[in-house]
Amino acid sequence: MQQTATAVKDDAERVAFPIPANVFAEKVVSVKHYTDRLFSFRVTRPQAFRFRSGEFVMIGLPNAEKPVFRAYSIASPAWDEEIEFFSIKVPDGPLTSHLQKVQPGDTVLLRHKTTGTLVVDALTPAKRLFMISTGTGIAPFASLVRDPDTYEKFDQIILTHTCRDHAELAYGVELFEALAADPLIGEVVQDRVTLYSTTTREITPRMGRITRLIETGRFYEDLGIAPLSPETDRVMICGSMHMLKDVKELVEGLGFKEGSLAHPADFVVERAFVG
Ligand code: A2P
Repeated sequence: MQQTATAVKDDAERVAFPIPANVFAEKVVSVKHYTDRLFSFRVTRPQAFRFRSGEFVMIGLPNAEKPVFRAYSIASPAWDEEIEFFSIKVPDGPLTSHLQKVQPGDTVLLRHKTTGTLVVDALTPAKRLFMISTGTGIAPFASLVRDPDTYEKFDQIILTHTCRDHAELAYGVELFEALAADPLIGEVVQDRVTLYSTTTREITPRMGRITRLIETGRFYEDLGIAPLSPETDRVMICGSMHMLKDVKELVEGLGFKEGSLAHPADFVVERAFVG
């Protein structure tokens, strides 16, 4: 018998569409709205679903014969029993305009295949790992900071998160609170991972684009750390297109070389999903 799933509630009638091939149909477990632009949700994890922390997967909704799929970074670590996503809400977005309405019990589709460049194996060993993010670009790093493998490879992890306003930083702040209290990795990560959050459009104690904070040296002063160097450090970048370009140029100017799984090196880049 062909598998079907019921469409999300905003459709006038609840219709059952066939599940496409090579996808898992999973149930939403919980949803949390942070602002009118950001929300996170968790879905059940099929036993056969395998991925590396930091990777992304194509997700969709069973609300059409041919559902719209978009790439989403998996925000939960590879060991987690559920799958977490952190998403933007785009009013007319072909996927997010519907996805933002999901409720516990609804179905979300996940393609089987996962991929991505923000994996620790794409970097050569070093002392410190800097993860630079804006907006929902924090998602793959939410996965990596919760994975003990990241701490096997790096002594110190510094995650930067820049958003327009204070409310948009809440996901990262909650992530770090939960990390410290986590019975599994709370002890491993103690004193080894730091969150550096900044805002650009609302006045808060720590303001500015990360590029500017690095260039002026304020970032290093705030954290009391040595400046970025390819000899000691590796960098992962995820967020808006403009930020990726500027941070890439900045680290290349410092002598960092871009890496990949085939050719591990000093830094890796991935665009956060938009739309
Ligand atoms: P800004 O407010 O100065 O544009 P968005 O919500 O539009 O995706 O942006 C997320 C964050 O990324 C914002 O705080 C934004 O700052 C910042 N940002 C945008 N472009 C760049 C860039 N080229 N370099 C550094 N940060 C950037």
